[in-house]
Amino acid sequence: MNGVTTPPQKTPPLAMVIFGASGDLTSRKILPALANLADHGRLSENFQVIGVARTEWSDEDFQKAALVDVPNAGSEWRRLVSNFRYVSGEYAASSTFDQLKGLLGEADSKHGTGGNRLYYLATIPSVFALVADALAKEGCNVPGEGGDFCRLVVEKPYGHDLSTALDLDAAVHRAFDEDQIFRIDHYMGKETVQNVLALRFANAIFEPIWNRRYVENIQITVAESIGVEHRGGFYETAGALRDIVQNHVMQVLALTLMESPTGMDADHIRDEKVKLLRAVDIPTPDEAVDKSVRGQYLAGVVDQQPVVGYRQEDGVDPHSETETFVALRLRVENWRWAGVPIYIRTGKRLPARVTEVALTFQGVPFLAFEGELARQLRPNALILRIQPNEGVSLHFGAKIPGEAFRVQSVAMDFEYNSAFADTGMDGYPRLLHDAMNGDATLFIRTDEVEQAWRIVDPYLQAWSEPGGGLHFYNAGTWGPHIADLLLERSGDAWRVPDLSKS
Ligand code: BG6
Repeated sequence: MNGVTTPPQKTPPLAMVIFGASGDLTSRKILPALANLADHGRLSENFQVIGVARTEWSDEDFQKAALVDVPNAGSEWRRLVSNFRYVSGEYAASSTFDQLKGLLGEADSKHGTGGNRLYYLATIPSVFALVADALAKEGCNVPGEGGDFCRLVVEKPYGHDLSTALDLDAAVHRAFDEDQIFRIDHYMGKETVQNVLALRFANAIFEPIWNRRYVENIQITVAESIGVEHRGGFYETAGALRDIVQNHVMQVLALTLMESPTGMDADHIRDEKVKLLRAVDIPTPDEAVDKSVRGQYLAGVVDQQPVVGYRQEDGVDPHSETETFVALRLRVENWRWAGVPIYIRTGKRLPARVTEVALTFQGVPFLAFEGELARQLRPNALILRIQPNEGVSLHFGAKIPGEAFRVQSVAMDFEYNSAFADTGMDGYPRLLHDAMNGDATLFIRTDEVEQAWRIVDPYLQAWSEPGGGLHFYNAGTWGPHIADLLLERSGDAWRVPDLSKS
């Protein structure tokens, strides 16, 4: 392994306030990410965490939870946790804010946090707007005395559809300016998602073929072998389109298909992403039915283990119509991509956990080689493996050694793990660190969120009407068979991900 690492950059002094501090997201993602930053020496010595939630906890309960949630944490995390404070109360009550303001003052005077604030909305989404309004009403939307910044990190889901997303955005904008708002999509924190930009714009050889003249189709797969786990209640209100497509898939799609930015800063990149999203064709609800398949998993076998169907999961309505699988056929209407089908598929309880982008190139105009193997030769393909076994593969035809001239598809592989040392800064730690440092490049701007909802909204509308049918698939398969038809109409087929790489 090459030891290419970057030295830790420390965050500025700040007080971080987590709304929803006793919840699942705090315990699974936020606290482990903070511990990672602490133990890698990336947090300022002048750092303080204040948890806010309705659960009646004491400071000690919060501190205990922060140690339980990060079992292998180091000494720096233990030191920080021993100072954690907690406010128990209703999110918009002035008594909650009276306590919070007292603790923020204490953070500045005792821990040297310098008036800088980072608020993290990790509550249930229905109170996001309420908390943002309360922060403004209580005068907490500006830095404390002597501070340089006051930022708001907002989790997904950002809205439930286009109209609720616009309402939420209006509420958040009443309280904070856009440059104070950091909307999280944890896919943007993945090194391999960011690597799409490096691959495309740090290399000269891909750009000339990255367009409709050479690319036959593009497939984006976000497959998961897990079911809804303990999140049945939440998932019932979401479904795969809202949970994965509106956010993670749209981000990957934008980075893969956008034009080259003229700089790598937040606005240059986000300008290009939003331009691309605006070029995605928005179907009418009728067309949307024709261009999409929604599915739900039945009982089956995954990883050699029998698993129950979605309707039998905890917290799920036994008659639920929520989709756990989505396949879409999209078009991007610009000079680069017109006519190239973009296929998207995501689902739970599929055979493996695989996220990849596959660009399949056009076949050769004439194949001089004979024989069965030559006829089976697959077109060139470039596979960007986002996870697992992160890397890039280029598939091409090669001569099989021997007298006869026979050709077969082979792959040239780049593997991230063997080329680079792990920085420990993937995902949430990376995003939190960026938000603390005020770098918004990997966060979702207001116009991106809006456009991503505009793209998926017609499907939501189409599916709520009769005829927007749900198709079932057995857990452990690649989704309903009818999803194949979306591609067969254009003579295409879903790529079978190479599971030896998963
Ligand atoms: C989350 C979804 O945003 O992403 C989950 O809410 C999903 O349902 C998860 O499991 C997938 O993330 P990753 O990083 O495991 O691909």
